Amino acid sequence: MIAAALSVSLYGLGYYTTAVAQRPFLPEYHFMKPSGAYSHGLGIIGASMIIVGVSTYSTRKRVRKFWSLGKLSHWLEFHIFLCLLGPTLVVYHTTFKAGGIAAISLWCMLSVAASGVIGRFLYVQIPRNIKGNELTEQEINGELDDLNRQLSASPLGVQVVKSIDESFAAISKSDKLVTTIGLLFRLQSTKRHVRHSVREMIARSHLSHEQAKTFYKLASARAVLLQKTVVLTQVEKLFFYWHAVHLPFTVIMFVALAAHVAVTVFLGYRWIF
Ligand code: HEM
Ligand code: HEM
Repeated sequence: MIAAALSVSLYGLGYYTTAVAQRPFLPEYHFMKPSGAYSHGLGIIGASMIIVGVSTYSTRKRVRKFWSLGKLSHWLEFHIFLCLLGPTLVVYHTTFKAGGIAAISLWCMLSVAASGVIGRFLYVQIPRNIKGNELTEQEINGELDDLNRQLSASPLGVQVVKSIDESFAAISKSDKLVTTIGLLFRLQSTKRHVRHSVREMIARSHLSHEQAKTFYKLASARAVLLQKTVVLTQVEKLFFYWHAVHLPFTVIMFVALAAHVAVTVFLGYRWIF
């Protein structure tokens, strides 16, 4: 993706760095302007990527008939890939100038893509099963019990579980929006700290390499699950608010895009057709 973004940027570097008023005097103007074969093409390809990225993910997530079609998390990766690359190509399509209805679509697109990064961060804080569906409270407790049983089969395991649980219990819950974000970062660093001390405890034990690997995996899974459950209610609330931004902005973006395309077709711009 970075390679694609770099290629388009290097290809048109001379054009993009020329002042807008001077561009019509460049020999490549008719090829590079937003309605020119090159940039017009980037707009069409970029917009198509966004449409495919949104529609495939939404359909897979919402239409029961497609629920057996691959893991939801893989579809989300696909959504993110297309919806990062697509907007990048669209930005080059505009040749870094924005006016009229198209500007509404552009700013909505950039806001949605930027908010996507925050959404992705919140998304991974919510415990999910292997298919990518959110775990219920009962399933989370079942998983924690299961990990406890497997780890507590040895004295080292009992000690490790105690240390992990105490570290997370020490972090108090908070209801406020600002402190939730602070808490998320604190939990990340607690998880790192817990993993580090588990590695040290394992190093001091006499476990074989294979046993140590399995043990660390279980301990790490417990730490990750506890890290996510401490702030689950708050993260779910934030994720709900996040959807309330990501979705309407997408709708406005598509409505403005439809109007923008309709105007350009009406004006006679048909790309290579
Ligand atoms: C989300 C997708 C898109 C966004 C955000 C977008 C945005 C823009 C912007 C900001 C401009 C420059 C306006 C100016 O000169 O001030 C532009 C120009 C243009 N766009 Fe798009 N565009 C998108 C997709 C498309 C698509 C899919 C097509 C064609 C089917 C298209 C066709 C054009 C044409 C022909 C122009 C030149 C118009 C002119 O010079 O009068 N755009 N677009
Ligand atoms: C112009 C670009 C983008 C558009 C138009 C867009 C649109 C959407 C839409 C409509 C949904 C809701 C799907 C549904 O619930 O049916 C969604 C979900 C999501 N998007 Fe995007 N998105 C864009 C870019 C991104 C980017 C760049 C990221 C991450 C870096 C991202 C991350 C997510 C996440 C995490 C979800 C939530 C998944 C869920 O709750 O199931 N999006 N996006």
